[in-house]
Amino acid sequence: MSYVRPFKPLVFAVCLLPLVYLLLSAFEVAGLGLGTNPVEELLHELGRWGLKFLLLTLAVTPVRRWTGWSWLVRYRRMLGLFSFFYLLLHFLVYAVLDQGLDPGLIVEDILKRPYITLGMAGLLMMVPLAATSTKAMMRKLGKRWKSLHRLVYVIAILGVWHFYWQVKLDTLQPLVYASILAVLLISRIRPRKRR
Ligand code: HEM
Repeated sequence: MSYVRPFKPLVFAVCLLPLVYLLLSAFEVAGLGLGTNPVEELLHELGRWGLKFLLLTLAVTPVRRWTGWSWLVRYRRMLGLFSFFYLLLHFLVYAVLDQGLDPGLIVEDILKRPYITLGMAGLLMMVPLAATSTKAMMRKLGKRWKSLHRLVYVIAILGVWHFYWQVKLDTLQPLVYASILAVLLISRIRPRKRR
């Protein structure tokens, strides 16, 4: 649909809003702030936004099927790349501000704490997906592109699991994310079964 194209810059700008808000909060502009533990707050916000964008990416196909809005697919790649972007920032905040960019400490932490291992595995799996997200790579890889991009389901499961595992008491939030992911995964399975 031709009217969709001008909306791309708008969607891009909207996807950047969480980052703008976090930057304003980090620099305490307009009365905003990150509270008493700014590094933790930043880390958590970026992790949650990364996961939200990941679930939005996964929601494109089922919502398109339910509503008939085929134009939604044009935003899928952008949403997926924004998820990667926010999760990369999440990792950078962890590596630089939390671990002081000490490779030894970071590797030890990744190996020692299972929830960090899961998060790292998820982030590493996102790298080939981001690298092959262009139309040229889609054409080049053909059928293999689809198989490779099925990794996104594994990444989402690892991401939610990572979230659930690091929560100490209040498991409600990760369970809400897990339920949304379950609905999205089930919605993918059904039509195949019917066939
Ligand atoms: C698919 C990749 C990832 C996703 C979806 C993800 C998502 C999240 C989410 C949603 C949270 C919790 C936010 C909250 O409590 O409100 C979180 C926390 C955290 N994540 Fe990740 N993350 C990912 C990768 C990583 C990686 C690669 C690292 C570091 C190597 C990491 C380190 C952490 C840490 C340290 C916390 C905070 C734990 C705490 O405060 O006890 N994450 N992440």
